[in-house]
Parts: sequence; C-alpha cells; structure tokens
Amino acid sequence: MSKLIQIAIDGPAGAGKSTIAKIVAEALSFTYIDTGAMYRAVTYKAMKQNIRLNDTESLEKMLRSTDIVLQPSKDGQLVFLDGENVSSQIRSNEVTANVSQVAAHANIREILVAMQKALAANGGVVMDGRDIGTHVLKDAELKIFMSASVEERARRRFIDNEKRGIPSTIETLQQEIALRDKLDSEREASPLIQAEDAIYLDTTELSINEAADTILKLAKEKMI
Ligand code: C5P
Repeated sequence: MSKLIQIAIDGPAGAGKSTIAKIVAEALSFTYIDTGAMYRAVTYKAMKQNIRLNDTESLEKMLRSTDIVLQPSKDGQLVFLDGENVSSQIRSNEVTANVSQVAAHANIREILVAMQKALAANGGVVMDGRDIGTHVLKDAELKIFMSASVEERARRRFIDNEKRGIPSTIETLQQEIALRDKLDSEREASPLIQAEDAIYLDTTELSINEAADTILKLAKEKMI
C-alpha cells in the first residue's frame, strides 16, 4: 500500500496553489486543506462584528468561541463558520484586503495552526498556505514553494474573479497582490518564506496540468 504522506504547498497570492493542490489531492485521493480560507473566515467574522483588526485580544476572544469547519465537496472545499456556509463571502474584495492584517497576529496563528495540524495528523493531505512547510507541517514528506510573476498572478486572479462574479481590474489586482506579498513576507509571525527543504516551482510558464503533474510525480516517489 502506498504511504499517506503530507504535501505542503506554500507561495504568494495567486501562484495557483489552490487550483493545483486540489488536482493533486484528487488524483491521490487525499484531502485538500486550504488554510487561507481559515484566515479569511476569521477576518470575515471580525469585520461583521466590527472588531478592530489590530485588536489582538478581541480577535482571540472571538476566535475562541468560533467554529470553523472545512468540508470537502465536489465543487472544492466548503467553509462553514459557526454553521453557516461562507465559502463565497470569504472571497470578497473586502476580506481579501484585510486578511493579511488578521493573519499577522501570532495568537490567531497559534490557534489556527493547532487546528491545521490536527486536520493533517493522519496524513493523506495536501495543505496549502504560507507557512505550511516552515511551521505547520515541518515534517511533511513533500514541500513545494510555488510562485509566478506578479503580472501572471494578477491575470489568473482576474480570470478567477470573473468566474466568481467578483468585480476587479488587472491593475488593482497587481497592487493588491504586491501589497499582500509584502505584508505576508515581512510580518514577524511565520512570514512567507521558502522552507529550506522545499522544492521551488515557478508556474509562470506552466499550465495548471503541467504544474500538477510535476507535483504528482514528486509525490509518487515519496509514497513508495
Ligand atoms: O491563500 P489565500 O490567498 O486565500 O490566503 C489569504 C491570506 O491568509 C494570505 O494573504 C495570508 O495573509 C493568510 N495566510 C497565512 N498563512 C496561511 C494561509 C494564509 O498567513 N497558512
């Protein structure tokens, strides 16, 4: 029987992580876990409750009485926040613009990372985020750090947003992505960096299937 390994995929916004991670997970019959959705759900709830996003203590208090459930479905991962399906609400421009501020709080990260570790404990997972290879799944058998040029990432987000009915322009997306990259890479708590043992994958010139195939090949070598 092949091993139920952990696959960690990190990288900046719009590098194609979630699309590719989903394909890889499906091909291996693994569970896909989108950790960004958890930070987005916390941000969404805090905004709804008018909690100041720099108020670490209030955010933590809120999170300690919050229920976040990630549920795989044929249309991808569904996100339930206190029982409500918020899968599309957490992708809004407002949440996207604020999520990096919430994700910078070490106490919030600590709680979400504990949940993420529990979800991955039995292996057979593909988890994507910013700190998976460096913090959440330090012992993951396969770590990928995925990136692409800012222009290409903005173009992909634009197409993705069009599909989801979220209004945007390539120019504003480029700015938003560059700002989020900066906040995520420069924060003190678990910044976005490539783990030493991660394999770098530049997807600028790769199709989704080419990128997924590259990871699947690497994964199969580790599953023997
Ligand atoms: O992956 P996605 O773009 O949905 O992530 C939204 C935000 O959540 C990121 O910009 C980052 O601030 C935060 N995040 C994080 N650590 C993770 C996953 C996401 O800080 N593991």
